[in-house]
Amino acid sequence: MNTECFDAVIIGTGAAGLTIALELADQIQSDSSLTEKPKIALISKGPILEGSTLYAQGGIAAVLDEDKDTIEHHIRDTLNAGAGLCHQDSVKFAIEHGKEAIQWVIDKGVNFSREDDSDEYHLTREGGHSRRRVIHAADATGKALSEGLLSQVKNKPEIKLFEHHLAVDLILSPQNAKQCVGIYLLDTQTNQVMEVPAKFTVLATGGASKVYLYTSNPDSSTGDGIAMAWRAGCRVANMEFNQFHPTCLYHPKAKSFLISEALRGEGAQLKLPDGTPFMHKFDAREELAPRDIVAQAIDYEMKRTGSDYVHLDISHKPEAFIKEHFPTIYKRCLSFGIDITREPIPVVPAAHYTCGGIMTNLDGQTDLKHLFALGETAFTGLHGANRMASNSLLECLVFAQASAKKILAQLPNTQHHKNIPQWDNSRVTGSEEGVVVTHNWDELRLFMWNYVGIVRKNKRLSLAKQRVKLLRREIDDYYRQYHINNDLIELRNLAIVAELIIDSAIQRKESRGLHYTLDYPYKDDKQFLCDTILVPSTYQKPPI
Ligand code: FAD
Ligand code: SIN
Repeated sequence: MNTECFDAVIIGTGAAGLTIALELADQIQSDSSLTEKPKIALISKGPILEGSTLYAQGGIAAVLDEDKDTIEHHIRDTLNAGAGLCHQDSVKFAIEHGKEAIQWVIDKGVNFSREDDSDEYHLTREGGHSRRRVIHAADATGKALSEGLLSQVKNKPEIKLFEHHLAVDLILSPQNAKQCVGIYLLDTQTNQVMEVPAKFTVLATGGASKVYLYTSNPDSSTGDGIAMAWRAGCRVANMEFNQFHPTCLYHPKAKSFLISEALRGEGAQLKLPDGTPFMHKFDAREELAPRDIVAQAIDYEMKRTGSDYVHLDISHKPEAFIKEHFPTIYKRCLSFGIDITREPIPVVPAAHYTCGGIMTNLDGQTDLKHLFALGETAFTGLHGANRMASNSLLECLVFAQASAKKILAQLPNTQHHKNIPQWDNSRVTGSEEGVVVTHNWDELRLFMWNYVGIVRKNKRLSLAKQRVKLLRREIDDYYRQYHINNDLIELRNLAIVAELIIDSAIQRKESRGLHYTLDYPYKDDKQFLCDTILVPSTYQKPPI
């Protein structure tokens, strides 16, 4: 039994988790109403920086050049990309706080790329943006951001880091099942579970794109936060809107390597393998159409021509420009024998971003008392039916800062909970059937790719539903009988998220944004101009 109690336990060390940890620590230091030294636990299930943030390339969208851009333009572009489902209050809130959030990051010591001939920041463009407004650190923005914030976190004595620790489930108060009082935490190196009591719990666990066979995301994106919150009784929304990034490197040895949309922002063109451009056939904005349109166009052309990939070509730009703006992509492609200054890059779409998630308000508060959700795991309403490029890191920063304020306001009047229920593993044994877990991982991700991918159909969705129900039953049986480990917990979470995606996709009998189905190929504003909200209590729980 762990006896250490925390004021806040933050699960996740991406942009969202690092930001709220720092904001809490900074503001706590300057708050004289707090008499005791507060304590924050910051947890990552893998190496400390492993998560989508580390791999973010393009940058962070915000209105920074007020001569050439306006808040209204950024709002309008976001609403257009979101295909009618963005929440206006959330969009306005995120975008109005964008400049302040970027300044906060700069003040933390993060360096962004500047124009060659001046001290001005270089702003790039991506799909859906009508203006140049994406601030970036060459093509490795996430690395600069996460390393910069982590170096600050390491100087804060109030933050205790737990690396290689996996949050298994939320602990609910035995007196009030609508209140979160901490988490069960698995040390993945010893396989021991401990209780971590906390006044406030923050889920900043990232997205769930690992539910698909091909993804741009690192292994950590298994939807743990969404599944934990769902099991604990939180509503989730818009899980059918899974974003497929149009351009991931196609190469047998390249696992999940993204070719940033910023290449298209700087003039790269999509072509068939025979060199024929095709985007003009699909949208007047061509390569700079929002992602749903570009990914569907590529999918269409690949199926039409029977090709395994299409090409993305930036080789017409000067070599020095390419090497300066895209050093990471240049080097990585070269390591596979592709010189992007001279030849096109073979690319395919891959699962990239989870637009849906745990429902929160503008302060990051969920349906449970003292439970917050931030970043890709949350559903704030910002992205609607399709996230615009580089609005995600913006969301992480802005909503983490708002949540920190809310937690600090409530902290002086919040007590630690006594009598935390202990983890019980008295009825489980060790397993020698690890193959069950590996097999189910592979099967789940394959049928999600084939049946619940870029283009959907009723028949495929109902086949996926049957498969996932069976799989969930097998996984739950296994979970009840054997000691848990990292892979089993992630698989259990992925299976829940898969079912939430399938159910949401089945409910939306229209095509909108990232949800495209051949059975209902058009938007239906009369019936479906609304979020798909799933409520745990209306679901039949699998037998325990
Ligand atoms: P993450 O950065 O994914 O971090 C999740 C954290 O949660 C990790 O620390 C992980 O270890 C931890 N975690 C998860 N589950 C558990 C658990 N059970 N227990 C303990 N810890 C757990 N967006 C942009 O705005 N601009 C871009 O340029 C951009 N480029 C991208 C490029 C790539 C290749 C990818 C994959 C995404 C990109 N995105 C971009 C999207 C953006 O990076 C993510 O949406 C964002 O970084 C998510 O941040 P996060 O803090 O919510 O989660
Ligand atoms: C990219 O650089 O293309 C990714 C940007 C994003 O996902 O926001």
